[in-house]
Amino acid sequence: MDKILKAVGVAASEPGSFSGTWLKSTTKQSIISYSPQTGQKIGQVGISSDSDYEVVLEKSRETFSRWRMTPAPQRGELIRQIADKFRAKKKDLANLISLESGKIVSEAEGEVQEAIDVADFAVGLSRQLYGLSMHSERLLHRMYEQWHPLGPVAVITAFNFPLAVWAWNAFIAAVCGDTVVWKPSEETPLVAIAATKICEEVTSSHSVPALFCLLNGTGSTLGKKLAADSRFPLVSATGSCAMGKSVAEAVAKRLGKSLLELGGNNAIIILKDANLNLAAKSVCFGAAGTAGQRCTSTRRVLVEKEVHDVFVEKLISLYKTLKIGDPFESAVLVGPLINARAVDNFKKAIARVSKEQGIILYGGNALQGNFVEPSLVSAPKNMPLTFEETFAPILFITKVDSLDEAIEINNAVPQGLSSSIFTDSLQASEKFLSAAGSDCGIANVNIGTSGAEIGGAFGGEKESGGGRESGSDSWKSYMRRQTNTINWGDGLPLAQGVKFID
Ligand code: UN1
Repeated sequence: MDKILKAVGVAASEPGSFSGTWLKSTTKQSIISYSPQTGQKIGQVGISSDSDYEVVLEKSRETFSRWRMTPAPQRGELIRQIADKFRAKKKDLANLISLESGKIVSEAEGEVQEAIDVADFAVGLSRQLYGLSMHSERLLHRMYEQWHPLGPVAVITAFNFPLAVWAWNAFIAAVCGDTVVWKPSEETPLVAIAATKICEEVTSSHSVPALFCLLNGTGSTLGKKLAADSRFPLVSATGSCAMGKSVAEAVAKRLGKSLLELGGNNAIIILKDANLNLAAKSVCFGAAGTAGQRCTSTRRVLVEKEVHDVFVEKLISLYKTLKIGDPFESAVLVGPLINARAVDNFKKAIARVSKEQGIILYGGNALQGNFVEPSLVSAPKNMPLTFEETFAPILFITKVDSLDEAIEINNAVPQGLSSSIFTDSLQASEKFLSAAGSDCGIANVNIGTSGAEIGGAFGGEKESGGGRESGSDSWKSYMRRQTNTINWGDGLPLAQGVKFID
Protein backbone atom coordinates (compact mmCIF):
# COMPACT_ATOMS: atom_id res chain seq x y z
CA MET A 1 0.00 0.00 0.00
CA ASP A 2 2.76 2.45 0.99
CA LYS A 3 4.63 1.62 -2.19
CA ILE A 4 1.58 2.43 -4.32
CA LEU A 5 1.06 5.78 -2.60
CA LYS A 6 4.75 6.63 -2.80
CA ALA A 7 4.91 5.90 -6.53
CA VAL A 8 2.31 8.61 -7.20
CA GLY A 9 3.66 11.01 -4.58
CA VAL A 10 0.66 10.80 -2.27
CA ALA A 11 1.12 10.87 1.53
CA ALA A 12 -1.09 9.05 4.03
CA SER A 13 -2.51 12.39 5.08
CA GLU A 14 -3.10 15.08 2.48
CA PRO A 15 -4.74 18.50 2.45
CA GLY A 16 -7.90 18.29 0.37
CA SER A 17 -7.96 21.74 -1.22
CA PHE A 18 -5.78 22.90 -4.08
CA SER A 19 -5.90 26.45 -5.40
CA GLY A 20 -2.58 26.44 -7.20
CA THR A 21 -1.04 25.74 -3.82
CA TRP A 22 -2.18 23.12 -1.31
CA LEU A 23 -4.23 24.74 1.43
CA LYS A 24 -3.81 23.57 4.98
CA SER A 25 -7.34 22.68 5.95
CA THR A 26 -8.78 24.72 8.77
CA THR A 27 -11.66 22.32 9.41
CA LYS A 28 -9.60 19.54 11.03
CA GLN A 29 -12.11 17.12 9.52
CA SER A 30 -11.01 14.48 7.07
CA ILE A 31 -12.36 12.10 4.50
CA ILE A 32 -10.93 8.68 5.18
CA SER A 33 -10.16 6.49 2.22
CA TYR A 34 -10.63 2.76 2.85
CA SER A 35 -9.64 -0.15 0.67
CA PRO A 36 -12.86 -1.74 -0.59
CA GLN A 37 -10.98 -5.01 -0.72
CA THR A 38 -9.66 -5.24 2.85
CA GLY A 39 -11.48 -2.45 4.67
CA GLN A 40 -8.09 -1.10 5.73
CA LYS A 41 -7.52 2.63 5.91
CA ILE A 42 -5.40 3.80 2.97
CA GLY A 43 -5.11 7.46 3.83
CA GLN A 44 -6.99 10.63 4.60
CA VAL A 45 -7.72 13.92 2.94
CA GLY A 46 -8.75 17.18 4.62
CA ILE A 47 -12.31 18.41 4.11
CA SER A 48 -12.35 21.85 2.50
CA SER A 49 -13.51 24.64 4.78
CA ASP A 50 -15.69 27.54 3.66
CA SER A 51 -12.63 29.75 3.48
CA ASP A 52 -10.72 27.13 1.41
CA TYR A 53 -13.70 27.14 -0.94
CA GLU A 54 -13.51 30.90 -1.36
CA VAL A 55 -9.75 30.86 -1.96
CA VAL A 56 -10.06 28.09 -4.54
CA LEU A 57 -12.87 29.80 -6.40
CA GLU A 58 -11.12 33.16 -6.32
CA LYS A 59 -7.91 31.69 -7.74
CA SER A 60 -9.86 29.77 -10.35
CA ARG A 61 -11.63 32.95 -11.44
CA GLU A 62 -8.41 34.92 -11.51
CA THR A 63 -6.74 32.22 -13.63
CA PHE A 64 -9.76 32.14 -15.93
CA SER A 65 -9.40 35.84 -16.68
CA ARG A 66 -5.96 35.07 -18.21
CA TRP A 67 -6.50 31.53 -19.51
CA ARG A 68 -9.49 32.54 -21.63
CA MET A 69 -7.18 34.84 -23.62
CA THR A 70 -4.45 32.21 -24.07
CA PRO A 71 -4.62 30.98 -27.69
CA ALA A 72 -6.45 27.65 -27.76
CA PRO A 73 -3.57 25.74 -29.44
CA GLN A 74 -1.30 26.88 -26.59
CA ARG A 75 -3.90 25.58 -24.16
CA GLY A 76 -3.73 22.31 -26.08
CA GLU A 77 0.05 22.21 -25.74
CA LEU A 78 -0.31 22.29 -21.95
CA ILE A 79 -2.71 19.34 -22.08
CA ARG A 80 -0.27 17.49 -24.35
CA GLN A 81 2.39 17.83 -21.66
CA ILE A 82 -0.03 16.56 -19.01
CA ALA A 83 -0.83 13.56 -21.22
CA ASP A 84 2.90 12.76 -21.38
CA LYS A 85 3.05 12.73 -17.57
CA PHE A 86 0.01 10.45 -17.38
CA ARG A 87 1.66 8.10 -19.87
CA ALA A 88 4.79 7.96 -17.74
CA LYS A 89 2.72 7.24 -14.62
CA LYS A 90 0.14 4.93 -16.18
CA LYS A 91 1.00 1.83 -14.17
CA ASP A 92 1.41 3.72 -10.88
CA LEU A 93 -1.88 5.56 -11.28
CA ALA A 94 -3.64 2.33 -12.23
CA ASN A 95 -2.38 0.69 -9.04
CA LEU A 96 -3.80 3.53 -6.98
CA ILE A 97 -7.14 3.26 -8.81
CA SER A 98 -7.28 -0.48 -8.07
CA LEU A 99 -6.35 0.10 -4.46
CA GLU A 100 -8.93 2.80 -3.85
CA SER A 101 -11.83 1.76 -6.10
CA GLY A 102 -11.29 -2.02 -6.12
CA LYS A 103 -11.41 -2.40 -9.90
CA ILE A 104 -9.10 -5.00 -11.43
CA VAL A 105 -5.72 -3.77 -12.65
CA SER A 106 -6.46 -4.30 -16.34
CA GLU A 107 -9.56 -2.11 -16.07
CA ALA A 108 -7.67 0.44 -13.97
CA GLU A 109 -4.98 0.66 -16.66
CA GLY A 110 -7.78 1.06 -19.20
CA GLU A 111 -9.11 3.93 -17.14
CA VAL A 112 -5.77 5.75 -17.17
CA GLN A 113 -5.58 5.10 -20.92
CA GLU A 114 -9.04 6.64 -21.26
CA ALA A 115 -7.74 9.79 -19.54
CA ILE A 116 -4.72 9.85 -21.89
CA ASP A 117 -6.96 9.30 -24.92
CA VAL A 118 -9.21 12.19 -24.03
CA ALA A 119 -6.17 14.40 -23.44
CA ASP A 120 -4.92 13.54 -26.95
CA PHE A 121 -8.38 14.27 -28.32
CA ALA A 122 -8.42 17.62 -26.51
CA VAL A 123 -5.03 18.56 -27.99
CA GLY A 124 -6.39 18.09 -31.52
CA LEU A 125 -9.59 19.84 -30.58
CA SER A 126 -7.65 22.90 -29.46
CA ARG A 127 -7.18 23.70 -33.16
CA GLN A 128 -10.76 22.81 -34.13
CA LEU A 129 -13.14 24.83 -31.96
CA TYR A 130 -15.03 25.74 -35.10
CA GLY A 131 -17.95 28.11 -35.46
CA LEU A 132 -20.14 28.49 -38.55
CA SER A 133 -20.30 31.45 -40.87
CA MET A 134 -23.64 32.42 -42.40
CA HIS A 135 -24.72 34.54 -45.35
CA SER A 136 -26.37 37.70 -44.18
CA GLU A 137 -29.60 38.79 -45.88
CA ARG A 138 -28.34 42.38 -45.75
CA LEU A 139 -25.99 44.01 -48.26
CA LEU A 140 -22.35 44.33 -47.13
CA HIS A 141 -22.99 42.47 -43.91
CA ARG A 142 -21.21 39.43 -42.60
CA MET A 143 -22.47 36.94 -40.01
CA TYR A 144 -20.65 34.29 -38.12
CA GLU A 145 -20.64 32.59 -34.76
CA GLN A 146 -17.76 32.03 -32.42
CA TRP A 147 -17.30 30.04 -29.25
CA HIS A 148 -15.96 31.61 -26.07
CA PRO A 149 -14.97 30.01 -22.78
CA LEU A 150 -17.57 29.87 -20.02
CA GLY A 151 -15.65 30.39 -16.78
CA PRO A 152 -14.74 28.13 -13.88
CA VAL A 153 -16.47 24.77 -14.32
CA ALA A 154 -17.39 22.61 -11.32
CA VAL A 155 -16.79 18.92 -11.97
CA ILE A 156 -18.36 16.39 -9.58
CA THR A 157 -17.26 12.79 -10.16
CA ALA A 158 -18.16 9.32 -8.90
CA PHE A 159 -16.03 6.56 -7.36
CA ASN A 160 -16.34 4.08 -10.23
CA PHE A 161 -14.29 6.13 -12.71
CA PRO A 162 -12.27 8.23 -10.30
CA LEU A 163 -9.88 9.52 -12.98
CA ALA A 164 -11.30 9.14 -16.51
CA VAL A 165 -14.58 11.00 -16.03
CA TRP A 166 -12.78 13.98 -14.49
CA ALA A 167 -10.36 13.87 -17.45
CA TRP A 168 -13.26 13.87 -19.95
CA ASN A 169 -14.46 17.09 -18.41
CA ALA A 170 -11.25 18.74 -17.28
CA PHE A 171 -9.15 18.36 -20.43
CA ILE A 172 -11.93 19.38 -22.80
CA ALA A 173 -12.93 22.31 -20.57
CA ALA A 174 -9.29 23.43 -20.36
CA VAL A 175 -8.70 23.58 -24.12
CA CYS A 176 -12.00 25.46 -24.37
CA GLY A 177 -10.47 28.10 -22.09
CA ASP A 178 -12.27 27.24 -18.86
CA THR A 179 -10.74 26.56 -15.47
CA VAL A 180 -11.86 23.55 -13.44
CA VAL A 181 -12.77 22.96 -9.81
CA TRP A 182 -13.06 19.25 -9.03
CA LYS A 183 -15.09 17.64 -6.28
CA PRO A 184 -14.19 13.95 -6.38
CA SER A 185 -16.15 11.15 -4.74
CA GLU A 186 -15.67 10.74 -1.00
CA GLU A 187 -14.71 7.12 -1.75
CA THR A 188 -11.76 7.97 -3.99
CA PRO A 189 -10.12 11.21 -2.84
CA LEU A 190 -6.54 9.92 -3.20
CA VAL A 191 -6.82 9.35 -6.96
CA ALA A 192 -7.89 12.98 -7.21
CA ILE A 193 -4.89 14.11 -5.15
CA ALA A 194 -2.53 12.11 -7.38
CA ALA A 195 -4.06 13.46 -10.62
CA THR A 196 -4.01 17.03 -9.33
CA LYS A 197 -0.34 16.70 -8.36
CA ILE A 198 0.55 15.50 -11.85
CA CYS A 199 -1.29 18.44 -13.40
CA GLU A 200 0.38 20.81 -10.93
CA GLU A 201 3.83 19.94 -12.33
CA VAL A 202 2.75 21.22 -15.74
CA THR A 203 0.39 24.05 -14.82
CA SER A 204 2.84 25.70 -12.43
CA SER A 205 5.49 25.83 -15.15
CA HIS A 206 2.95 27.56 -17.41
CA SER A 207 2.03 30.12 -14.74
CA VAL A 208 -1.54 28.86 -14.46
CA PRO A 209 -1.23 26.82 -11.24
CA ALA A 210 -4.95 27.15 -10.47
CA LEU A 211 -6.13 25.72 -13.81
CA PHE A 212 -7.12 22.42 -12.18
CA CYS A 213 -8.26 23.05 -8.60
CA LEU A 214 -9.56 20.60 -6.04
CA LEU A 215 -12.08 20.67 -3.20
CA ASN A 216 -13.03 17.75 -0.99
CA GLY A 217 -16.20 17.30 0.97
CA THR A 218 -19.49 15.48 1.04
CA GLY A 219 -22.11 15.58 -1.67
CA SER A 220 -24.69 16.90 0.76
CA THR A 221 -22.65 19.96 1.71
CA LEU A 222 -19.90 20.66 -0.85
CA GLY A 223 -21.80 19.20 -3.83
CA LYS A 224 -24.89 21.27 -2.97
CA LYS A 225 -22.81 24.40 -2.48
CA LEU A 226 -21.10 24.08 -5.86
CA ALA A 227 -24.42 23.50 -7.59
CA ALA A 228 -26.00 26.59 -6.04
CA ASP A 229 -23.03 28.90 -6.69
CA SER A 230 -23.67 31.16 -9.66
CA ARG A 231 -19.93 31.79 -10.03
CA PHE A 232 -19.89 28.39 -11.75
CA PRO A 233 -21.64 28.89 -15.09
CA LEU A 234 -21.47 25.13 -15.65
CA VAL A 235 -21.73 22.23 -13.22
CA SER A 236 -20.87 18.85 -14.68
CA ALA A 237 -21.94 16.00 -12.43
CA THR A 238 -21.65 12.23 -12.67
CA GLY A 239 -23.46 9.94 -10.25
CA SER A 240 -26.86 8.57 -9.34
CA CYS A 241 -30.14 9.83 -10.80
CA ALA A 242 -31.11 11.09 -7.33
CA MET A 243 -27.91 13.14 -7.08
CA GLY A 244 -28.43 14.46 -10.61
CA LYS A 245 -31.95 15.62 -9.83
CA SER A 246 -30.74 17.57 -6.83
CA VAL A 247 -27.87 19.17 -8.81
CA ALA A 248 -30.19 19.97 -11.73
CA GLU A 249 -32.68 21.67 -9.43
CA ALA A 250 -30.07 23.80 -7.69
CA VAL A 251 -28.39 24.81 -10.96
CA ALA A 252 -31.69 25.51 -12.73
CA LYS A 253 -32.83 27.71 -9.85
CA ARG A 254 -30.06 30.15 -10.74
CA LEU A 255 -30.42 29.50 -14.49
CA GLY A 256 -26.96 27.97 -14.74
CA LYS A 257 -26.02 25.12 -17.06
CA SER A 258 -25.69 21.57 -15.87
CA LEU A 259 -24.17 18.62 -17.68
CA LEU A 260 -25.45 15.42 -16.16
CA GLU A 261 -24.18 11.89 -16.63
CA LEU A 262 -26.32 9.74 -14.38
CA GLY A 263 -27.50 6.18 -13.92
CA GLY A 264 -28.25 3.65 -16.59
CA ASN A 265 -30.38 0.53 -16.83
CA ASN A 266 -28.77 -0.85 -19.91
CA ALA A 267 -30.16 -3.77 -21.86
CA ILE A 268 -28.72 -6.07 -24.48
CA ILE A 269 -31.16 -7.61 -26.95
CA ILE A 270 -30.20 -11.04 -28.27
CA LEU A 271 -32.03 -12.20 -31.37
CA LYS A 272 -32.28 -15.77 -32.55
CA ASP A 273 -29.77 -15.23 -35.37
CA ALA A 274 -27.09 -13.76 -33.08
CA ASN A 275 -23.62 -15.18 -32.63
CA LEU A 276 -24.36 -16.49 -29.15
CA ASN A 277 -20.74 -17.04 -28.10
CA LEU A 278 -19.92 -13.45 -28.90
CA ALA A 279 -23.07 -12.28 -27.14
CA ALA A 280 -22.40 -14.33 -24.00
CA LYS A 281 -18.84 -12.98 -23.62
CA SER A 282 -20.05 -9.48 -24.16
CA VAL A 283 -22.88 -9.77 -21.66
CA CYS A 284 -20.47 -11.26 -19.15
CA PHE A 285 -18.05 -8.31 -19.41
CA GLY A 286 -20.91 -5.82 -19.35
CA ALA A 287 -22.66 -7.29 -16.31
CA ALA A 288 -19.83 -8.69 -14.18
CA GLY A 289 -16.98 -6.38 -15.27
CA THR A 290 -16.13 -3.63 -12.77
CA ALA A 291 -18.34 -5.72 -10.44
CA GLY A 292 -21.36 -4.21 -12.19
CA GLN A 293 -20.38 -0.72 -11.07
CA ARG A 294 -20.34 1.19 -14.34
CA CYS A 295 -23.12 3.49 -15.37
CA THR A 296 -22.92 1.53 -18.62
CA SER A 297 -23.00 -1.91 -16.96
CA THR A 298 -25.38 -4.39 -18.54
CA ARG A 299 -28.33 -4.81 -16.19
CA ARG A 300 -30.83 -6.57 -18.45
CA VAL A 301 -30.71 -9.13 -21.26
CA LEU A 302 -33.74 -9.56 -23.50
CA VAL A 303 -33.40 -12.87 -25.30
CA GLU A 304 -35.57 -14.09 -28.14
CA LYS A 305 -37.46 -17.17 -26.99
CA GLU A 306 -35.96 -19.54 -29.59
CA VAL A 307 -32.44 -19.13 -28.18
CA HIS A 308 -33.25 -18.25 -24.57
CA ASP A 309 -32.37 -21.57 -22.94
CA VAL A 310 -29.19 -22.20 -24.87
CA PHE A 311 -28.02 -18.63 -24.25
CA VAL A 312 -28.66 -18.90 -20.52
CA GLU A 313 -26.66 -22.13 -20.43
CA LYS A 314 -23.73 -20.46 -22.16
CA LEU A 315 -23.88 -17.54 -19.78
CA ILE A 316 -23.94 -19.76 -16.70
CA SER A 317 -20.88 -21.68 -17.96
CA LEU A 318 -19.03 -18.40 -18.45
CA TYR A 319 -20.08 -17.08 -15.02
CA LYS A 320 -18.64 -20.24 -13.47
CA THR A 321 -15.20 -19.24 -14.77
CA LEU A 322 -15.27 -15.75 -13.26
CA LYS A 323 -12.66 -15.52 -10.54
CA ILE A 324 -13.66 -13.22 -7.70
CA GLY A 325 -11.02 -11.73 -5.39
CA ASP A 326 -7.92 -9.58 -5.15
CA PRO A 327 -8.10 -6.99 -7.97
CA PHE A 328 -4.29 -7.04 -8.19
CA GLU A 329 -4.22 -10.75 -9.07
CA SER A 330 -4.13 -11.14 -12.84
CA ALA A 331 -6.55 -14.10 -13.00
CA VAL A 332 -9.21 -12.23 -11.03
CA LEU A 333 -11.99 -10.64 -13.07
CA VAL A 334 -14.35 -9.47 -10.33
CA GLY A 335 -13.18 -7.26 -7.47
CA PRO A 336 -15.15 -6.01 -4.47
CA LEU A 337 -18.04 -3.58 -4.39
CA ILE A 338 -17.07 -0.14 -3.20
CA ASN A 339 -18.44 -0.31 0.37
CA ALA A 340 -20.83 -1.97 2.81
CA ARG A 341 -23.75 0.16 1.62
CA ALA A 342 -23.30 -1.21 -1.89
CA VAL A 343 -23.32 -4.75 -0.51
CA ASP A 344 -26.49 -3.91 1.36
CA ASN A 345 -28.13 -2.68 -1.82
CA PHE A 346 -27.09 -5.92 -3.55
CA LYS A 347 -28.65 -7.95 -0.73
CA LYS A 348 -31.85 -5.91 -0.76
CA ALA A 349 -32.25 -6.40 -4.51
CA ILE A 350 -31.58 -10.13 -4.26
CA ALA A 351 -34.12 -10.42 -1.42
CA ARG A 352 -36.78 -8.94 -3.69
CA VAL A 353 -36.19 -11.40 -6.52
CA SER A 354 -38.45 -14.22 -5.37
CA LYS A 355 -41.09 -11.79 -4.04
CA GLU A 356 -41.33 -10.38 -7.55
CA GLN A 357 -41.56 -13.82 -9.18
CA GLY A 358 -37.95 -13.89 -10.33
CA ILE A 359 -35.63 -16.90 -10.06
CA ILE A 360 -31.95 -16.77 -9.16
CA LEU A 361 -30.20 -18.82 -11.82
CA TYR A 362 -26.67 -18.28 -10.60
CA GLY A 363 -24.95 -16.62 -7.60
CA GLY A 364 -27.13 -14.48 -5.38
CA ASN A 365 -24.83 -14.44 -2.36
CA ALA A 366 -22.84 -11.81 -0.59
CA LEU A 367 -19.41 -13.16 0.27
CA GLN A 368 -16.86 -11.86 2.75
CA GLY A 369 -16.32 -8.13 3.19
CA ASN A 370 -17.47 -6.17 0.17
CA PHE A 371 -17.37 -9.11 -2.23
CA VAL A 372 -20.54 -10.46 -3.84
CA GLU A 373 -21.24 -13.14 -6.41
CA PRO A 374 -22.03 -11.94 -9.92
CA SER A 375 -25.63 -13.08 -10.21
CA LEU A 376 -28.03 -14.12 -12.93
CA VAL A 377 -31.75 -13.71 -12.40
CA SER A 378 -34.55 -14.94 -14.58
CA ALA A 379 -36.98 -12.01 -14.62
CA PRO A 380 -40.59 -12.00 -15.76
CA LYS A 381 -41.64 -9.10 -17.95
CA ASN A 382 -42.47 -5.97 -15.94
CA MET A 383 -40.71 -7.14 -12.78
CA PRO A 384 -40.43 -3.91 -10.69
CA LEU A 385 -36.73 -4.51 -9.85
CA THR A 386 -35.80 -4.40 -13.52
CA PHE A 387 -36.88 -0.76 -13.71
CA GLU A 388 -34.32 0.29 -11.09
CA GLU A 389 -30.55 0.56 -11.24
CA THR A 390 -28.83 -1.52 -8.56
CA PHE A 391 -25.13 -0.66 -8.76
CA ALA A 392 -24.00 -4.29 -8.41
CA PRO A 393 -23.39 -7.32 -10.66
CA ILE A 394 -26.98 -8.53 -10.95
CA LEU A 395 -28.20 -9.36 -14.43
CA PHE A 396 -31.89 -9.79 -15.22
CA ILE A 397 -32.66 -12.15 -18.10
CA THR A 398 -36.06 -11.88 -19.75
CA LYS A 399 -37.46 -14.04 -22.53
CA VAL A 400 -39.04 -12.01 -25.34
CA ASP A 401 -41.24 -12.93 -28.30
CA SER A 402 -39.92 -10.55 -30.93
CA LEU A 403 -37.61 -7.64 -31.77
CA ASP A 404 -40.50 -5.21 -31.40
CA GLU A 405 -41.26 -6.43 -27.93
CA ALA A 406 -37.56 -6.28 -27.01
CA ILE A 407 -37.32 -2.66 -28.15
CA GLU A 408 -40.44 -1.82 -26.18
CA ILE A 409 -38.97 -3.35 -23.00
CA ASN A 410 -35.58 -1.74 -23.68
CA ASN A 411 -37.27 1.67 -23.72
CA ALA A 412 -39.77 1.11 -20.92
CA VAL A 413 -37.38 2.01 -18.07
CA PRO A 414 -36.87 5.55 -16.71
CA GLN A 415 -33.18 5.58 -17.66
CA GLY A 416 -31.77 5.85 -21.21
CA LEU A 417 -28.00 5.57 -21.22
CA SER A 418 -26.72 2.57 -23.21
CA SER A 419 -28.16 -0.33 -25.18
CA SER A 420 -27.05 -3.06 -27.57
CA ILE A 421 -28.37 -5.63 -29.96
CA PHE A 422 -26.76 -8.89 -31.06
CA THR A 423 -27.95 -10.01 -34.47
CA ASP A 424 -26.64 -10.76 -37.94
CA SER A 425 -29.76 -9.27 -39.51
CA LEU A 426 -29.20 -5.90 -41.14
CA GLN A 427 -32.90 -5.12 -40.98
CA ALA A 428 -33.10 -5.88 -37.28
CA SER A 429 -30.03 -3.85 -36.35
CA GLU A 430 -31.12 -0.89 -38.47
CA LYS A 431 -34.55 -0.96 -36.85
CA PHE A 432 -32.91 -0.98 -33.41
CA LEU A 433 -30.80 2.07 -34.42
CA SER A 434 -33.68 3.92 -36.08
CA ALA A 435 -35.84 6.66 -34.57
CA ALA A 436 -38.34 3.94 -33.65
CA GLY A 437 -35.62 1.84 -32.03
CA SER A 438 -33.57 2.28 -28.86
CA ASP A 439 -34.23 5.54 -27.01
CA CYS A 440 -30.79 5.56 -25.40
CA GLY A 441 -27.85 7.92 -25.87
CA ILE A 442 -25.71 4.94 -26.86
CA ALA A 443 -26.92 2.11 -29.10
CA ASN A 444 -24.50 -0.59 -30.27
CA VAL A 445 -24.60 -3.59 -32.57
CA ASN A 446 -22.72 -6.79 -31.73
CA ILE A 447 -20.79 -5.17 -28.91
CA GLY A 448 -21.90 -4.64 -25.32
CA THR A 449 -23.28 -1.65 -23.46
CA SER A 450 -20.10 -0.69 -21.60
CA GLY A 451 -16.57 0.23 -22.59
CA ALA A 452 -17.28 3.16 -24.90
CA GLU A 453 -14.40 4.86 -26.71
CA ILE A 454 -13.71 8.51 -25.92
CA GLY A 455 -14.20 9.72 -29.51
CA GLY A 456 -18.00 9.50 -29.33
CA ALA A 457 -20.28 11.78 -27.33
CA PHE A 458 -21.01 9.96 -24.08
CA GLY A 459 -24.28 10.28 -22.19
CA GLY A 460 -27.91 9.29 -22.13
CA GLU A 461 -31.50 10.41 -22.25
CA LYS A 462 -34.36 10.56 -19.73
CA GLU A 463 -33.18 10.01 -16.15
CA SER A 464 -29.66 9.35 -17.41
CA GLY A 465 -29.43 13.14 -17.49
CA GLY A 466 -29.27 14.27 -21.11
CA GLY A 467 -25.66 15.46 -21.01
CA ARG A 468 -22.93 14.54 -23.49
CA GLU A 469 -19.30 14.41 -22.47
CA SER A 470 -15.97 13.39 -23.95
CA GLY A 471 -15.79 13.20 -27.77
CA SER A 472 -17.65 14.39 -30.88
CA ASP A 473 -18.91 17.97 -30.37
CA SER A 474 -19.43 17.63 -26.60
CA TRP A 475 -16.94 20.50 -26.23
CA LYS A 476 -19.77 22.89 -27.07
CA SER A 477 -21.20 22.32 -23.57
CA TYR A 478 -18.09 23.94 -22.12
CA MET A 479 -18.33 27.12 -24.19
CA ARG A 480 -20.77 29.91 -24.89
CA ARG A 481 -21.85 30.67 -28.43
CA GLN A 482 -21.78 34.20 -29.70
CA THR A 483 -23.44 35.25 -32.94
CA ASN A 484 -21.76 38.21 -34.61
CA THR A 485 -23.18 40.42 -37.37
CA ILE A 486 -20.82 42.95 -38.91
CA ASN A 487 -21.86 45.81 -41.19
CA TRP A 488 -18.97 46.79 -43.44
CA GLY A 489 -20.99 49.10 -45.69
CA ASP A 490 -22.21 52.66 -45.14
CA GLY A 491 -25.95 51.97 -45.20
CA LEU A 492 -28.13 50.67 -42.40
CA PRO A 493 -30.50 48.10 -43.93
CA LEU A 494 -32.71 46.48 -41.29
CA ALA A 495 -33.43 42.77 -41.22
CA GLN A 496 -36.80 41.51 -42.48
CA GLY A 497 -37.06 44.65 -44.68
CA VAL A 498 -38.19 46.85 -41.77
CA LYS A 499 -38.14 50.59 -42.56
CA PHE A 500 -37.42 53.01 -39.73
CA ILE A 501 -35.33 56.13 -40.30
CA ASP A 502 -34.18 56.57 -43.92
C1 UN1 B 1 -19.18 5.53 -16.01
O1 UN1 B 1 -19.45 4.41 -15.62
O2 UN1 B 1 -19.55 6.56 -15.36
O3 UN1 B 1 -18.27 3.32 -21.44
C2 UN1 B 1 -18.38 5.83 -17.23
C3 UN1 B 1 -17.72 2.96 -20.38
C4 UN1 B 1 -16.57 3.78 -19.88
C5 UN1 B 1 -17.05 4.95 -19.10
C6 UN1 B 1 -18.03 4.64 -18.02
N1 UN1 B 1 -15.79 4.22 -21.01
O4 UN1 B 1 -18.06 1.96 -19.77
